Amino acid sequence: MKKNIGSKLALYPMPITVIGAMNGDKPTWTLVGHLGIIGHDHVMVSLAVPHFINGKIKETKKLSINLVDENILPQADYVGSVSGSKEDKSEVFAYEQGETGAPIIKDAPLTLECSVADIYETPNFESFICTIDNTYVAEEHLDEEGKINYNTLKPVLFEFPTYHYLRTGDVICKCLSLKEKQSKE
Ligand SMILES: Cc1cc2nc3c(=O)[nH]c(=O)nc-3n(C[C@H](O)[C@H](O)[C@H](O)COP(=O)(O)O)c2cc1C
Repeated sequence: MKKNIGSKLALYPMPITVIGAMNGDKPTWTLVGHLGIIGHDHVMVSLAVPHFINGKIKETKKLSINLVDENILPQADYVGSVSGSKEDKSEVFAYEQGETGAPIIKDAPLTLECSVADIYETPNFESFICTIDNTYVAEEHLDEEGKINYNTLKPVLFEFPTYHYLRTGDVICKCLSLKEKQSKE
């Protein structure tokens, strides 16, 4: 029998990301674990209302979602420790602007360049619902068919209850390859 521990945020681990937005002619960066996929063409980024980056996203309607690997984890952790309202974080990452102007972290293994389609408000949070304009991937993480290889990319995962970063593990098997085994049992 499982124990009911009440209403808990428990859908972990999930990839940790750095969200980027332009602040005038400089970027600003914020560490975010709470994001999601909506259908097959929207993503969601959930940000606490007091964060500095929210206003910049609302001004430009553009943001980037940068996956974090272990190489950029120290800088990523840093941009989650201090607000852009207190400190200029624009020089933490080398960047270039994507086609629509969102700042793209050069050393991030993968970046989604997004446009804001809507904002879903809940108490103290603004969740930015976005379309994906472009996806920039370090070439070493693309296989021969041009597909993203998450085994080499190894996004760092995040777990809120104990506030830990985790590594991804091994491939178990291909999806839907287990259904025959299951139906024979
Ligand atoms: C591991 C980790 C995950 C975080 N995830 C989120 C998140 O999902 N949403 C959020 O609003 N803030 C999150 N934060 C907090 C912000 O990154 C942090 O408050 C940041 O300093 C805000 O920066 P800003 O005011 O410049 O936007 C997270 C922080 C850490 C350390």
